[in-house]
Amino acid sequence: MEALLLGAGLLLGAYVLVYYNLVKAPPCGGIASLRGRTAVVTGANSGIGKMTALELARRGARVVLACRSRERGEAAAFDLRQESGNNEVIFMALDLASLASVRAFATAFLSSEPRLDILIHNAAPAPGISSCGRTHEPFNLLLRVNHIGPFLLTHLLLPRLKTCAPSRVVVVSSAAHRRGHLDFTRLDRPVVGWQQELRAYADSKLANVLFARELATQLEGTGVTCYAAHPGPVNSELFLRHVPGWLSPLLRPLAWLVLRTPRGGAQTPLYCALQEGIEPLSGRYFANCHVEEVPPAARDDRAAHRLWEASKRLAGLGPGQDAEPDEDPQPEDPGTPSSRSSPLSEEPTVSEPHAIPHNSPDLSKVTHRIQVKTEPEP
Ligand SMILES: NC(=O)c1ccc[n+]([C@@H]2O[C@H](COP(=O)([O-])OP(=O)(O)OC[C@H]3O[C@@H](n4cnc5c(N)ncnc54)[C@H](OP(=O)(O)O)[C@@H]3O)[C@@H](O)[C@H]2O)c1
Repeated sequence: MEALLLGAGLLLGAYVLVYYNLVKAPPCGGIASLRGRTAVVTGANSGIGKMTALELARRGARVVLACRSRERGEAAAFDLRQESGNNEVIFMALDLASLASVRAFATAFLSSEPRLDILIHNAAPAPGISSCGRTHEPFNLLLRVNHIGPFLLTHLLLPRLKTCAPSRVVVVSSAAHRRGHLDFTRLDRPVVGWQQELRAYADSKLANVLFARELATQLEGTGVTCYAAHPGPVNSELFLRHVPGWLSPLLRPLAWLVLRTPRGGAQTPLYCALQEGIEPLSGRYFANCHVEEVPPAARDDRAAHRLWEASKRLAGLGPGQDAEPDEDPQPEDPGTPSSRSSPLSEEPTVSEPHAIPHNSPDLSKVTHRIQVKTEPEP
């Protein structure tokens, strides 16, 4: 009996440790009212993105849910309008796997939205999809959705972020970046099998940290700052949706016990978007609402710059490619299968419950001209 009690006590003690170190997320705080400001959250129809969008809406922001599925995006926008009591939550179609879709989203956004104050790159495909034989992309899908698509989107929306400065870009990364390694000779090569995909996921998360670093350098003095954020281990669908049916009843309760809620996971991205006074930390990596040191590979400025140049090429922004391409560019590696043309799976659409005037005091600064630059001004 004593041994049983001791065992139970130890188990409880271990859980309390896990709970306070892993599960419990510090609340984000930051600017209380976002009235008159506009935020874009990618992949906002579920998990961390949805909870991030909810908090932004609760604080009064106009929130654009940039999602690849109209059905899921519209449903999330409806939920968030109900839950936040804020009618300015809208859906716009964005498939980050398609550069044509990224460009179409940017064009639609810039022609309909006069402001952009917060851009949150949250979307990520679940690693393991390709290994289930469901996708046959001629490029590295994880790098495309997690880095190249966001890179291009940032580039296209930068003029609007600059006119609305002080404004912020948040890249939702992961502690998995610590296992990442960027091989520039095969950056965009397709990955096959779940092991390669998990590796590619870590690599793409390292790319997120390096991108935030280089972007901060490029944007110095513009009033636009950027941050990489790790949400913590979160009980979302990212990894769980591909768990085999028979394992689900075991893993889901365990995940509920030892992982953060998506709302908890949203706290660090929100902190990076809203906390006053962190501008001098632009380009840094945050976890648990604190700035954190990263390993040498993630603070290598030469690698960050090299990635920037490679990303420009892969995003179709290389020299002479600044005009809107009709097709996604060829993969970097000539040994890979030829690139498909990427027609939009969905036309860019905006769903809006009410036409709401933008009463921002900064509207006089806003230009409606769509500007596309090769590179942000230093
Ligand atoms: N969960 C964790 O433990 C954890 C830990 C560290 C970092 N993160 C990061 O947190 C972020 C959010 O993940 P989550 O856990 O909330 O996962 P999630 O619930 O699976 O959400 C991922 C979102 O990304 C969207 N998405 C996937 N492919 C897309 C594409 N091609 N274009 C546009 N949107 C796309 C998904 O849309 P669909 O519904 O249409 O698939 C979904 O809305 C990710 O960047 C992830 O790497 C998560």
